[in-house]
Amino acid sequence: HRAEPCTVVIFGATGDLTNRKLIPALYNVAAEGDLPPQFKVVGFARRDKSDDVFRQELEEGNRKNSRQGHSDELWASFSQSIHYHRSEFEDLEGYKALAELLNKFDEERGAPANRLFYLASAPEAFKPILEMLREAGLSQGVNGKWARVVCEKPFGKDLATARGLNETVAGTFEEKDTYRIDHYLGKETAQNIMVLRFANALFEPNWNSRYIDHVQITCAENLGMEGGRGGYYDTAGALRDMVQNHLFQLLSLVAMEPPTDLSADSVRDEKVKVIRALRPLVGPEAVGANVIRAQYTAGSVDGVSRVGYRQEDRVNPESKTEAYVALRLFVDTWRWQGVPFYIRVGKQLPKKATEISVHFKKPPQVPFATARLPGSSENTLVIRIQPDEGIALRILCKQPGQALSMQQVKMDFRYSGSFGKASPEAYERLLLDAMAGDATLFARRDEVESAWKFIDELEHAWHKSPNPPPMCEYPAGSWGPKEADDLLRQDGREWRLL
Ligand code: BG6
Repeated sequence: HRAEPCTVVIFGATGDLTNRKLIPALYNVAAEGDLPPQFKVVGFARRDKSDDVFRQELEEGNRKNSRQGHSDELWASFSQSIHYHRSEFEDLEGYKALAELLNKFDEERGAPANRLFYLASAPEAFKPILEMLREAGLSQGVNGKWARVVCEKPFGKDLATARGLNETVAGTFEEKDTYRIDHYLGKETAQNIMVLRFANALFEPNWNSRYIDHVQITCAENLGMEGGRGGYYDTAGALRDMVQNHLFQLLSLVAMEPPTDLSADSVRDEKVKVIRALRPLVGPEAVGANVIRAQYTAGSVDGVSRVGYRQEDRVNPESKTEAYVALRLFVDTWRWQGVPFYIRVGKQLPKKATEISVHFKKPPQVPFATARLPGSSENTLVIRIQPDEGIALRILCKQPGQALSMQQVKMDFRYSGSFGKASPEAYERLLLDAMAGDATLFARRDEVESAWKFIDELEHAWHKSPNPPPMCEYPAGSWGPKEADDLLRQDGREWRLL
């Protein structure tokens, strides 16, 4: 696929995402020489601003955030493609003026261009933006050119709002032209999960309940509510903010059946089946037995003291929102019958690390009965999503010497060592895919809704039941509440040390 010539219109262009991620991603794509010819970006936002001021602000952001560093020369040419358009999101006149601007660019190009509308505004604005795009006739590509929409997260806050949003989107764009961002899918290591599983003959025959004891997925962050995030986060919580989207996407990639081909729909057909097969957690009892939610109390991370969750800026001092969640999940399919998937995600943990570990069963019979087995002896395949991207396989080996004693050793593949060059950022890949018409790494409508359905049932037990499961606590800088350790201990297992 190649990105096709287009104009990208970013709604909410004065926000953090544009400055920190989207423009640096486009700049890096330009540095790689992958931007389509005659490319243009239009920032659409409420504040009054000239093209020049907008470009200067983005330049500062790019200096800080560009993966490739910042070259004044490249910026000088790249920034010529950036323009600013001031309008209220609800004002039809502003969209008519946008249409004129896009037509003017087409005239300069000498041909009509494709149009990519990127919704990076606050989610409340998605609806008016979509309606106005339709009213202004912008949602239809002209002269055989396409018009597509990219929706940033959060995609709804529960099933009802996600459905409502999907309806609104569907009123303006066809599903094939709708690209729902989940930036975890753009991560190189997440994309590699399918290659690891389906391009190697070694793993797939063992990838089932016969050989796998359990799977763990950890997404740890060592940040809290910096930069005023508390306001949004406190309305969401770990389950909605991370599990519904990123963690479920990783789980789908690990648990899916092989797709028949690599078309966007074949891949997403298989992924959505995993979400649909999740054993529902309904009612306080099932939720209490399988889900641990927690908030951090004051503590320290990396030697820096941190306040507790409820003391964070813009967080309700009596908040009932979880900053950590651990779950025991089952995927009710033939392949995965009885295999627990343990998932945990939290803020203010000791370090930033996302990894998936697949823990294999012990051999049926060990002929070394008299040998000493080390404490942890199972074969484990660890997929490090970030940082220190790579894959490690832990196997038992004989320690050199007369006695037969065994030790677990690690076979380690590191992206940095094997490939030498840094992987592209998730947004680089995703923006290029949207420009090339490849939706494989974007969430489809049914995926989003199935995930929300599962989350809604669980949230219901927390927030609507008369005796909800408790809110646990952990000091900032620790690996989560002790109840999350108990969740695995009850099953005779423990969280992998990261
Ligand atoms: C976002 C969440 O989607 O992902 C944030 O809203 C979280 O709360 C972030 O910090 C994590 O992304 P990454 O790429 O840094 O792991």
